[in-house]
Amino acid sequence: MKCITVSASSAYDVLVGRGLLRDAGRIVRAVINAPLAVLVSDSTVDALWGNTAAESLEAAGFRVLRYVFPAGEASKNTAEYVKMLEFFAENGVDRSSVVVALGGGVTGDLAGFAAATYLRGIAVVQIPTTVLSCVDSSVGGKTAVDLSAGKNLVGAFCQPRAVICDPDLLDTLPEEIFIDGCAEIIKYAMICDRELLDALSGPDFDREEIIARCVAIKRDIVCRDEFDNGDRQLLNFGHTLGHAIEKLSDYKISHGRAVAIGMSVMARACAGLGICSIRDADLLIGKLETFGLPTGCDYAPEDIAAAAAGDKKRRGNTVTLVVPKAAGNCILNPVPVEKVTEYARLGLGGRV
Ligand SMILES: NC(=O)c1ccc[n+]([C@@H]2O[C@H](COP(=O)([O-])OP(=O)(O)OC[C@H]3O[C@@H](n4cnc5c(N)ncnc54)[C@H](O)[C@@H]3O)[C@@H](O)[C@H]2O)c1
Repeated sequence: MKCITVSASSAYDVLVGRGLLRDAGRIVRAVINAPLAVLVSDSTVDALWGNTAAESLEAAGFRVLRYVFPAGEASKNTAEYVKMLEFFAENGVDRSSVVVALGGGVTGDLAGFAAATYLRGIAVVQIPTTVLSCVDSSVGGKTAVDLSAGKNLVGAFCQPRAVICDPDLLDTLPEEIFIDGCAEIIKYAMICDRELLDALSGPDFDREEIIARCVAIKRDIVCRDEFDNGDRQLLNFGHTLGHAIEKLSDYKISHGRAVAIGMSVMARACAGLGICSIRDADLLIGKLETFGLPTGCDYAPEDIAAAAAGDKKRRGNTVTLVVPKAAGNCILNPVPVEKVTEYARLGLGGRV
C-alpha cells in the first residue's frame, strides 16, 4: 500500500494513502497506548465509514465508544460540544483515552475542541473524510465551534497526535462537496506553488500526491506562524471577500465556491492595479473554471465591501488582504477598510 508521510511538525505526522482507514487502529496504537478510543463522527460519515474505523480500532486492541452527532455545520455549536463532553464524562473517558475524529471539518473542529478542553486536554487523532478536511482543517491545530454571533468564535489550538488521510474515503462524497474543497487546493497553489497550479488539470487529479503536497504547504506556513499573527494569514487568500459573499448569500453560496469568487475578484483587481499580470490572473480563473467553480457574482461591490468590513480578522480600521503578485506568489497587504471597495469594484469588472 502506497503511503506518503508528511511530518506536520516535530510532534506528529500526516499519513496519506489509499486504504489507510483499514489500518487506522494500528496507526493510532503506534502514537498512543490508550485502552479506550472514542470514535466521533457525524451521522452521514458514521453510516458510511464508521464500522470500518471501529473494526480497525478494535483489532488493534482498543475498547471503542462511538459518538454520533447530526451531520452539518448547524451541529458545530456549544450545545453539541457540551453534549459530547457529557458523553465523555458519563462513559469514563479519561486522560489515557484518545478521541478519533472521523469526518469533515465540522467533526474535526467539534471533536478536536472537545478533546482540547475535556480534562484540560486529551489526545486526538484526525481522520479527515472531505477534500477540505484532508488538505486544510485537519492540519494546523485549530479547533472551534460557532456562536450565534459568528463562525469559529470559541476554540483552541490543539495539535493532533496523527492525521490519517485515506483518499478512498472521498469516493462517497457528493460531487458538489468534493469540488468545493478543491477551491482550497487551487488556493494553496496560487499562494506559493506555481508547479502545483500547472499540475491541476481538473477534478481527476492524483489524490495522494496533491493532498500530500497541500499538507506540506500548510505545514510550512503554520510552522512559520502557528498562532496566526503573520504568514498564516496567507491561507486567507480569497477568504475576506469569500466570507462576505457567503454571508450576503445567506450561506446559499457554499464556502469553497465563495472563496473561488473571492480569489477571482482579488486576481482581477490585482491585474487591474498592475500588481500581477493579466496572464497570471487568467491562469487562476481558468483553473477554477476547469473545476467547475464560479469566478464572479452579481452582488454590488459596495455590499461585498460592507460585509467584508465585519470580518473577524479585521484589526481596527485595517484589513489584511492577500494579494497575488504572480501565479504561485501571494503576499500580505494590510489596507484601510475603505480600500476593499476599490478591490471589489475592480475585480467585478467595474470602474474604481
Ligand atoms: N480548523 C481549521 O483549520 C479549519 C479550516 C478550514 C475549515 N474549517 C471548518 O471546516 C468546516 C467545513 O468542513 P467540511 O466542508 O469538511 O464540512 P462537513 O464536515 O460538514 O462535511 C460536509 C458534508 O459532507 C459529509 N461528508 C463528509 N465526509 C463524507 C464522505 N466521505 N462521504 C460522504 N459524505 C461525507 C458530511 O456529513 C457533511 O454533510 C467548517 O465548519 C469550517 O469552519 C476548519
